[in-house]
Amino acid sequence: MISRETIDKVFETARVEEVIGDFVQLKKAGANFKGLSPFADEKTPSFMVSPVKQIWKDFSTGKGGNAVTFLMEHEHYSYPEAIRYLARKYQIEVEETVQSDEQKQRADERESMFLVSEFARNFFSQILWETEKGKAIGLSYFRERGFTDETIKKFELGYSPEDWTALTDEAISKKYELEFLEKTGLTVVNETKKFDRFRGRVMFPIHSMSGRVLGFGGRTLSSEKKVAKYLNSPESIIYHKGKVLYGIYQAKQTIAKEDNCYLVEGYTDVISLYQSGVTNVVSSSGTALTPDQIRLINRLTNNITVLFDGDAAGIRASFRGIDLILEQGMNVRVVAFPEGEDPDSFARSRTSQDLIEYLTEESQDFIQFKTSILLEQTKKDPVKRAELIRDIVSSISKIPNNIHKEVYIQECASIMNISEQVLFNELSQILKRKNRDSRTTSAQRTPFTGVKKETKQVDKVDPLKLLERKIIEILMLYGNEEIEFVDFTSEIDEEGRKRIVRQQYSNTVSNEIYMHLQEDEIEFTDPVFLKIYYEIIHLLNQKEKISADFFTNHGDDEIASAVTDLLMDEEKYSLSNWEKHNIYVNGKKSYLSKLVTDVLYNLRRLLIAEKIQELQTELVTDGDEPNGLEASQESLEAIRDYTSLKQLLFEKLNRVL
Ligand code: CTP
Ligand code: MN
Repeated sequence: MISRETIDKVFETARVEEVIGDFVQLKKAGANFKGLSPFADEKTPSFMVSPVKQIWKDFSTGKGGNAVTFLMEHEHYSYPEAIRYLARKYQIEVEETVQSDEQKQRADERESMFLVSEFARNFFSQILWETEKGKAIGLSYFRERGFTDETIKKFELGYSPEDWTALTDEAISKKYELEFLEKTGLTVVNETKKFDRFRGRVMFPIHSMSGRVLGFGGRTLSSEKKVAKYLNSPESIIYHKGKVLYGIYQAKQTIAKEDNCYLVEGYTDVISLYQSGVTNVVSSSGTALTPDQIRLINRLTNNITVLFDGDAAGIRASFRGIDLILEQGMNVRVVAFPEGEDPDSFARSRTSQDLIEYLTEESQDFIQFKTSILLEQTKKDPVKRAELIRDIVSSISKIPNNIHKEVYIQECASIMNISEQVLFNELSQILKRKNRDSRTTSAQRTPFTGVKKETKQVDKVDPLKLLERKIIEILMLYGNEEIEFVDFTSEIDEEGRKRIVRQQYSNTVSNEIYMHLQEDEIEFTDPVFLKIYYEIIHLLNQKEKISADFFTNHGDDEIASAVTDLLMDEEKYSLSNWEKHNIYVNGKKSYLSKLVTDVLYNLRRLLIAEKIQELQTELVTDGDEPNGLEASQESLEAIRDYTSLKQLLFEKLNRVL
């Protein structure tokens, strides 16, 4: 084995641009490098390398990673082969570890525990299928619950006989050692006797991601109140409750394929959903979701959908746990079941098609869900409302991506019918506090070592810059798409009454943006974004399509690198990913239309707000001028005009959304 120290040294030394440079001709493009994709035939470069982040991304195939993964992808090396290659390249001596006796023993111990657990699984399963009692009690219970034989086999369910030492005796007779039976908790050993932990229970083996048996859950069939309904294996060196998810082995493929993971409460929920055709489902089995479990899911997908039983108290209790998921940068949706139903009972009493339809139709974004639930509960109580705002914004503050944060602020403001500014202020307060806290705690924890640590900048939320950036991003990704837009204008009819007229029209995204910005004579404040925007207008006038390639290969380095950075930066969270992940279920086109309208109206409102601010400052200084009174009058009128314009935009926006 290659020693940990060697691996660390390799990672510290290897530069991704140098490693890739041996295989791909790279050209500097701003902060990044670009080149022709080594994984596809192409004429214009779409392969990017970021020396700052030490990562690469191939936009034509979607592949990406670090120096080691590049070698694994391109040279088809195994992980150790890639490390050895890099060590050679950088003349790092490869230190091989011989396993110490202690390490060897530990590895043997784990392996022995796995073997005993797998023996137990086979034993319980054999009892279930092949013995009279097993069939009469265990199998008939599962069948009564509606589990098919196929499902029972898929989840390797079993039955533990109502006998004090059935499993232990059988294992010992097959030469399994008592030590490992005890360490896995299958056998309970005390001074005077030893006996089976699971007796007279239906058995649910808990698998690792790769299908090894880590432990068991056993459900009693007795209705006696004193008996625990579920009994679980104790923690051991192979079974850490907080690091496993029930069902992950059976679900992993569909989780990756569907790019979503359903999260339920227990064993029976997992199995029922699975049998109904929803196979991307796991459970944290009784405990609150831990960061380790979230990371496990995150290896397969960025999207979690949490399924709630239909009781409000339970829903509120789980809000905190969900913040943990947001913190990991995952997208969270929720589905609430009707009062008194859990996913298991719901799946059992509906057809598979009804279930799938319910999950699709009822699934909503977590932040929106939380906002509307809390809003309902606080109604008109102003104190509670302030708490609610803090609570929601605190959830939003956990989201690592700034553009996501901002869109949520806009959405919540519109659900709660309050100004975004209030929420933005709260957000910046929370971020400031968080930053202060993390500074003090890290100072307390790490003594001064003389090494200058990189201080992390607080993410400044400059709404104008973000909006400009978002517009450019939308133009790059969707500029050519033709979609339906909605607008509302007011009209005075013959009787002098005001009427709101709804107009629907179709337009390309780029034209719509161009029209709006031109109408209000809005210019980008960021000089590079402005240059890019002019280029886009030029393309539009030539009736040419907007292509990201055109910009990443632009002669003007500033443009090329800004667009490259934009595409690189947002790689993980980009709008195109949102669409892929189906954050907005109403279909891409209407989402896109909403997004464009949203961004444009917000930009206009922001500019109007700035204008009003400017006029208010003028108003204060007007007082000192000779013609002060008249000037003040003018400023006041202008403020009134702008304010009503702002209100009008706000109303329009709410109607469109
Ligand atoms: N659960 C648990 N420990 C308990 C009770 C429940 O771990 N003491 C978990 C189990 O994973 C179970 C899930 O919560 O699958 C749902 O609980 P419950 O409905 O009480 O269990 P069921 O076996 O479905 O019982 P019933 O048939 O009464 O619904
Ligand atoms: Mn149940």
